[in-house]
Amino acid sequence: MPAQVRLHQILDWNSPQQNARLCQELASGLSQPQARIAPKFFYDPLGSRLFEAITELPEYYLTRSEAAIFSAHLPAIRNALGAGFTFIDLGCGSCGKAGALFHAGVLPARYVAVDISVDFLRDSLQHLQRELPAIEMVGVGLDFTDELKLPDDLPPERRMFFYPGSSIGNFDPPEAREFLRRLAGQMDASGGLLIGVDLIKDKALLDAAYDDALGVTAAFNRNLLRHVNARLGADFEIGDWRHVAFYNAGDKRIEMYLEARRALAAAWPGAGGRQFRHFADGERIHTENSYKYSPEDFSALLASAGFADIRLWTDPRAWFALFFARKAE
Ligand code: AVI
Repeated sequence: MPAQVRLHQILDWNSPQQNARLCQELASGLSQPQARIAPKFFYDPLGSRLFEAITELPEYYLTRSEAAIFSAHLPAIRNALGAGFTFIDLGCGSCGKAGALFHAGVLPARYVAVDISVDFLRDSLQHLQRELPAIEMVGVGLDFTDELKLPDDLPPERRMFFYPGSSIGNFDPPEAREFLRRLAGQMDASGGLLIGVDLIKDKALLDAAYDDALGVTAAFNRNLLRHVNARLGADFEIGDWRHVAFYNAGDKRIEMYLEARRALAAAWPGAGGRQFRHFADGERIHTENSYKYSPEDFSALLASAGFADIRLWTDPRAWFALFFARKAE
């Protein structure tokens, strides 16, 4: 029985080099005419917990709809994955979704848990390894949206990538295609992809899912500024910013912003001393897009990224879809 899981710390967000790179990225995003903060900065330790809370909100149907698909279609999903496969979980968080599948009898030979937040990953994976000692488990601390670097000793056959939760929606479609292409490039013809995708639906349902009555999504969004203050040394006053999220039906995406409640200035360290930016009353910082797809559009995206043999399952309301696809020969 393995006492300890193996961990490959490819990325350490707090190493001086990474931190300098991330600060540069933040400062550059905040200085653009349309100020922006990349969504990866949501996931500091508090942000990761707030996201877990979002998944329990009555308005945030995504996680529950996906779980309903897993339980209703388990035999078909098990069949698609086959046996003796390596399950590569991208953005595993607490490893809860993979753990639920394993406990339901979807058993890989090897589990590779990849997440940007290595501390969260270490504890979750160690816990899972104790529960399921027969599965070889490896943790990889990595920003896989930048570069997908897997451990060298990973067998090339039967790599099944797992990308649940509709995280693919946080890429713009051309970036999503590029990302999916990179995944296809990491597998041979015996490999596949199991991916969750949120579907286009009524605007009122989508708006509510990203602007819940309790204000948890607002806290998740505004926590970005706490993270930016801590990492970059900026001086954003959290109370000056309001959460804005809405479905843009033309572009088929949720857009999320932080909006200044009054005219204000914020500052952060720059190369030549402190750098200031003025924000007008109502000016916004873009923080996230979350694209929604039709089954046809997502199937076409998969095909254009080098996948074939595409099948999908949905929940009874057809709000969410789980796709399985193989690499095209
Ligand atoms: C992680 N990702 C799929 C979530 C989404 O639905 O786009 C992040 C999120 N943002 C606000 N609520 C949840």
